[in-house]
Amino acid sequence: MGDRWYQEAVVYCLDVDTFADSDGDGVGDFRGLIGRLDYLARLGVTCLWLHPIHPSPNRDDGYDATDFYNVSPKLGTLGDFAELLHQARNRGIRVIIDLVVNHTSDEHPWFQSARSSPDSPYRNWYVWSDEAPPDRHQGMVFPGEQNETWSYDRTAKSWYYHRFYKFQPDLNVANPQVRAEIKKIMSFWLQLGVSGFRMDAVPFIIELTEAGNPNSPKDLDFLTELRQHVQWRRGDAVLLAEANVEPDQLPVYFGDSGGSANRIHMLFDFMMNGRLMLALARQDPEPVIEALRDTPALPEGGQWATFLRNHDEIDLSRLTAEQRNQVYDQFGPDEDMRLYGRGIRRRLASMLGNDRRRIELAYALQFSLRGTPVLRYGEEIGMGEDLSLPGREAIRTPMQWSYKENGGFSTADPEKLVRPVIDKGEYGYQKVNVTAQRKDPRSLLGWFERMIRTLREAPEIGSGSTSHIDVPMPPGVLAHRADGPTGTMVFLHNLGTEDAEVDLSVLAPEADLPIDVLTDRNYEEVGKLDRLKLAGYGYRWIRICRGSGL
Ligand code: GLC
Repeated sequence: MGDRWYQEAVVYCLDVDTFADSDGDGVGDFRGLIGRLDYLARLGVTCLWLHPIHPSPNRDDGYDATDFYNVSPKLGTLGDFAELLHQARNRGIRVIIDLVVNHTSDEHPWFQSARSSPDSPYRNWYVWSDEAPPDRHQGMVFPGEQNETWSYDRTAKSWYYHRFYKFQPDLNVANPQVRAEIKKIMSFWLQLGVSGFRMDAVPFIIELTEAGNPNSPKDLDFLTELRQHVQWRRGDAVLLAEANVEPDQLPVYFGDSGGSANRIHMLFDFMMNGRLMLALARQDPEPVIEALRDTPALPEGGQWATFLRNHDEIDLSRLTAEQRNQVYDQFGPDEDMRLYGRGIRRRLASMLGNDRRRIELAYALQFSLRGTPVLRYGEEIGMGEDLSLPGREAIRTPMQWSYKENGGFSTADPEKLVRPVIDKGEYGYQKVNVTAQRKDPRSLLGWFERMIRTLREAPEIGSGSTSHIDVPMPPGVLAHRADGPTGTMVFLHNLGTEDAEVDLSVLAPEADLPIDVLTDRNYEEVGKLDRLKLAGYGYRWIRICRGSGL
């Protein structure tokens, strides 16, 4: 393991309320999650990212908090949470939590006080306008469900700003008291023992909103302030940010113009996510090659977080309309599978037609790309979605543990569950569950365990440098490499259906006992690297050489 844990981490994200219910009330909880830590340790994950755990009316699945200093009583107590941190650490697993401080719930006591009177000490914690802002119908994040970004509050007799839903008033980060409070919230959780934060909606947190200015200025230095604060309180804590912005704007989220990484440690690679989906849809690696070429170089210590699926719709808004349609045609052919005119509300297994070869190919590719892989719960067993549920809930169904009622998620009456378990068809818990796959070493779960262990033996993927190997390739095949002090790995992924043969003999001079470490099937030995066979949808991870040290 190199110096910085996050560069070689495997992050697993989950919602505590849909993971495991220990007390039979139909809602997952911390004790349920503690009971599943051994499962996660065996899978090989090293860091959990928990979706919001705070008290919340849950109108946006917890991304609408009413108290940043507590946990939702449905999930357990703060004591249970502290126990979770301890038990996770005993297994070498770190925990990071969602930090949702762009906004609060409108039921948060701060907002209730703020709206009640212009003299409230919290009035200036939110963003107000006496007049109707002319740009109030611009910048909505949820088109179709949200008509404006400013709403009139009759109690306050004023307009308030909300980048997201109307019930999520934005905090005013121009106010030093709000900034101090955000730091205090971070300190509180660091003190309890979390290893950092997944920071929600970062481009909007730093927005200094001005009524009537749809391009309000952004204060990136606030990120420098937060980073300094966090690093002082806990040296090895990390910030993993959601900032889905244009690629040329990304570098300033990592660090200031001096070129040092003094802001966010890790950013989700949304650009790569869209390109990966396009490459899978077209069965052509070109979009991934472009992404590898075009993404800006990161300052020392900066890191990408790669993902195929997260808890939201797949966001295809950075693709052209034509590219987006190609992805829709393949992976979201029905209108009902799409969301907000930009994305797809499905899980990966179902998008890939439950084709085991393609699922392995897609995840082998993601995990071999530069950066830290993030895996969403349930993907490791190939869960599907429930399109009868509204919006994003389709992909937020409970974890499927066994053949038991409710898929072993809970012993409550099915009507009492936080969300229905998928209980019919190809992805029903009767067919897709942990217990069944655990018994079968050839299962998708067994494959994920092997793949993750292989990754952990190849630290150059996370902390080395990755590049496309630019030599002639059969159609559909991507060749890339990762180099670091620990050695060199080479990866072949065939996104197409045709069998292929690849000539990588140019690499022979560098090779010292090259060997396959992860493959979709048994291939002939790699030999001189000049006749590497690759099946349709096949992949080979090849260790070329070992370096001398760290
Ligand atoms: C982020 C979250 C999303 C949430 C939104 C508002 O985009 O990923 O789930 O709805 O922020 O907090």
